[in-house]
Amino acid sequence: MIITVINQKGGTGKTTTSVNLGCALAYAKKKVLLVDLDPQGNLSYWLGISDPAHTMAEVMMEEIALEDILHEREGLKVAPSDMHLADVEINIASVENRESVLKRALIPLADQYDYVIIDCPPSLSLLTVNALSATDKVIVPLQMEVLSLQGLDQIVNSIDRIKGVLNDKIEILGLLPVMVDSRRKLSREIHEYIDENYDLKIFKSKIRSNVRVSEAPSFGESVLSYSPSSNGAEDYKAFAKEIIRLTKN
Ligand SMILES: Nc1ncnc2c1ncn2[C@@H]1O[C@H](COP(=O)(O)OP(=O)(O)OP(=O)(O)O)[C@@H](O)[C@H]1O
Ligand SMILES: [Mg+2]
Repeated sequence: MIITVINQKGGTGKTTTSVNLGCALAYAKKKVLLVDLDPQGNLSYWLGISDPAHTMAEVMMEEIALEDILHEREGLKVAPSDMHLADVEINIASVENRESVLKRALIPLADQYDYVIIDCPPSLSLLTVNALSATDKVIVPLQMEVLSLQGLDQIVNSIDRIKGVLNDKIEILGLLPVMVDSRRKLSREIHEYIDENYDLKIFKSKIRSNVRVSEAPSFGESVLSYSPSSNGAEDYKAFAKEIIRLTKN
């Protein structure tokens, strides 16, 4: 099962969700591969991989096999990236089937994992299109505030376009409320707005704002490992359970 975490807006908790959902799935004894598809390399940095010898940039240029760049962290595998991934957009622009480079790279190893999770950059660029072409499911982390909903149309439209052409099976698994203020109830208006305007599910799980979550990357660890009894660890473990339930055939 390949799951892509997207939102073209910056800072919506994509990397946080990729890392901690991935580690929570590994904690639940699932075989997990995390793919850092963002030239910012935040996921790689978060898990303590700095200056990797080989990255997703070379994989996307078809210079090296994905299985040959993997690092092991917290019971899962990580395919790191760095800023060179930004050049890929230009370098593969003229390659035939440039939207399905990642899909081809994942074919030899996707079956070895229960979950492959792809962390995307904050754009609907060629890199993100590659992730959407390869993926089975999509998770959209977002803050349940009016302004955060503005980009939702664009995400839904992009996926509809991909569905018709590059990937029939793609499906939005759900919207994940993140950075939720635990003192406030999730706004009913937002729920109603989404129900009325979209055919989208909001996950039962939500991720509360938790300082341990934002501290964890400085220690090169997921929040599960950095602070096992924190709200952040608890929320991502509960979310992993929901994902396992939703994705078992
Ligand atoms: N549950 C949380 N509690 C506290 N802080 C959080 C939480 N989730 C995310 N953050 C903080 O919000 C910021 C943005 O998160 P993150 O880097 O995951 O977003 P992103 O969508 O990957 O960003 P980008 O679009 O740049 O890739 C980070 O500083 C992160 O520590
Ligand atoms: Mg990110």
